[in-house]
Amino acid sequence: VEKAELAAGAEEAVTAIGEAAVVLQNGGIVAFPTETVYGLGADARDTGAVERIFQAKGRPSDNPLIVHIAEMEQLEQIVLPYGEVAKRLMLRFWPGPLTIVLPAREGAVSPRVTAGLDTVAVRMPDHVTALRLIAVSGCPIAAPSANRSGRPSPTRAAHVEEDLAGRIDGLVDSGPTGVGLESTVVEITEDGEAVRILRPGGIALEALREVVPVTPDSTVESVEQAAADKSGSPAGQEASAPRSPGMKYAHYAPQGAMQLVIGEPAAVRARIQDEVDAAQRRGEKTGVLTYTEHAPYYRADVVLASGSLTRLESAAQGLYAALREFDTHGVQAIWAEACPQEGIGHALMNRLSKAAGHRFIRV
Ligand code: TXA
Ligand code: MG
Repeated sequence: VEKAELAAGAEEAVTAIGEAAVVLQNGGIVAFPTETVYGLGADARDTGAVERIFQAKGRPSDNPLIVHIAEMEQLEQIVLPYGEVAKRLMLRFWPGPLTIVLPAREGAVSPRVTAGLDTVAVRMPDHVTALRLIAVSGCPIAAPSANRSGRPSPTRAAHVEEDLAGRIDGLVDSGPTGVGLESTVVEITEDGEAVRILRPGGIALEALREVVPVTPDSTVESVEQAAADKSGSPAGQEASAPRSPGMKYAHYAPQGAMQLVIGEPAAVRARIQDEVDAAQRRGEKTGVLTYTEHAPYYRADVVLASGSLTRLESAAQGLYAALREFDTHGVQAIWAEACPQEGIGHALMNRLSKAAGHRFIRV
C-alpha cells in the first residue's frame, strides 16, 4: 500500500482499511488517524514489526508504546485482572483519548512494546477508521504518534508524509484529527484507589476527577512550578526520574528556538513584542505563537494563532500544525503565549513547555 485515501468516499475508505489491515497482518507498519493524532501502527504481538516502528521514527528503544484495542475482549488478552478504578475509567472514557497503564499479561504483546516493563499502556481510540482497522486486522495495534522522534505529532496526513515518506508501508488518510493533542496517560496508584497522571492530554484533569481521585503529584500541576523554578534560565534537566519513560525526551519542538511567556496578558503581549523587536534588530527571523484574539496586536515575521482563547479546544487542535508552519517559514526565534491552565489548557501548556525546551519567561 503506497497511500490510501479515505476522504474520497465510503467505498474507497473500506478498501483503504482492508489494504492497511493486510499490511499489518503481514508485519508491515501503517500510519492511521485517531481522534488525537495520527499513529504509526504495527501488530503489537510481532516483535519484528514493532522494531520497524522504532527505526522509522528514530525513537529511543526504552520508550514504550501504547496498544490500541477495539473491544474489551482484546483487553483481557493483554492485561492481568484490574480493579474498580480502572473499570470506572474505561466505562466513562472509552472509546476516547485516555490511556491506562495496567499490569501486562506476560507474553501477550512483544517486549519491544513495553520496553521491558511489566506494565502495558492501553487505549480504545474514538475514531471510526482506527476502530475498523483494529477490528478488520484482528491485531492489537501498537502505535506511537506517526512523527519522527522529537518533532510535533501529526494532526494531518500531510504531516505524516513530511516526516515518514519512504519509511512506512502505508498511510490511511481521513483528514485532520479532532483533539489535536495526544491522549492523557494515567497509572493506578499503589493502593489501587486513585490515578496519577503521567501525561496530560485529551481527557482533562477536571473530567478525570469527576470519576476517580487524582493524586496531586501528577505532572499537570508541575508546569507552573517548573516555570517558577526556571524562569529566565535555560533548559535544565527534568526533575527526578519520570514515571512515564516518554516524558523525559525532548518533544514537539520546532526548529527555531522557542520561549514560553507566562503572566498577565497585557504584560505578556508587551514583553513578546519587545523580544521580537530586539531579535529583528539582530537580524533574526521571528515568530509569535498566539491566539486569534491577540494575533492583530503583534508585528513579527510570522504570527500564528493556534486557535481561540475562548475555546481552547481549537488551540489544541491547531497547535502542532502551527509549530510545523514556523519551520516551513524558517523562523529562528519564537515566542509563545501561555494559556489558562484549565480543561485542555493543562495539556496545551505541557506541550508548549516541551516545545520550548522548558525555557520560560515570567512577566
Ligand atoms: O493519543 C495518543 O496517545 C497517540 C495516538 C497515536 O494514540 N499516541 C501516542 O503515543 O502519543 P506515544 O508513543 O507518542 O506516547 C506514548 C506515551 C509515552 O509517554 C510513553 O512513555 C507512555 O505513553 N507509555 C507507554 N507505555 C507505558 C508504560 N507501560 N508505563 C508508563 N508509560 C508508558
Ligand atoms: Mg509521540
